[in-house]
Amino acid sequence: MPHILVFDSGIGGTSVLTHIQSALPEADYTYIMDNALLPYGLQTEETIQNRLANLVNKISSNFFGEVDLIVIACNTASTYALAHIRQFTQIPIVGVVPAIKPAAQISIRKHIALLATPATSKNQYTQSLVSEFAQDCQVSFYHSTELVRLAERKFWLNEDVREGVNKELSSIKVDNQADVLILGCTHFPILKYEIAEFYKTQCVLIDSGTAIAKRVKHLLGGSIDEAEIKKPLQFYATALNDVPAIAGYDVKSLYL
Ligand code: DGL
Repeated sequence: MPHILVFDSGIGGTSVLTHIQSALPEADYTYIMDNALLPYGLQTEETIQNRLANLVNKISSNFFGEVDLIVIACNTASTYALAHIRQFTQIPIVGVVPAIKPAAQISIRKHIALLATPATSKNQYTQSLVSEFAQDCQVSFYHSTELVRLAERKFWLNEDVREGVNKELSSIKVDNQADVLILGCTHFPILKYEIAEFYKTQCVLIDSGTAIAKRVKHLLGGSIDEAEIKKPLQFYATALNDVPAIAGYDVKSLYL
């Protein structure tokens, strides 16, 4: 039975985890959030690389038991630190990066928009995705940390965040010529109903969740043993005090 470890700065990675769990329901899962440094979108490249190197160290010391695959379910961490952390482990790592390639492929007007964290929207990795896969498109860049905060509130407190999302998107003002909006932060699919309601037919929303689940299944598919019983999800946070006590989540503390 494969053990998959999913990482994000907060609960954004659960939007990817859900897709992976439906593709591989029998696998064991550990979810880790580095909420002590949330939001990652405002951290430096160096800080994120160090945090992820510490995480890989912990994984290599078998702190979480044997891990078969690591999913960095965070666009900010993946675009800043994937290449860096791959040096430190043999365990396969799947990163989540903005869905620029599929967005460019489906755009009819050849104008796409990326909504991500401040770090992701400006970094070199994202630029390289644009030059590799969206040469024929105009690409408009937008960022928000407020949407990350609202996604956390919706997830933990079940809060109705529609008003906050509308206010934030009204101030972001995505160019209405763009026909595809990339949700380039894993927190944003948690708000996809609110975001879709705001844009109505102006643009199509796209994220990386399904593609990542396919990739994980492709890498691990052969090792799934249907007969085994699934273990409950292990859940760790680097700032346990900031996690509201909610029934159903037994969150453990982690030092990175
Ligand atoms: N969920 C993360 C991402 O995909 C980062 C959110 C944050 O911590 O700023 O980029």
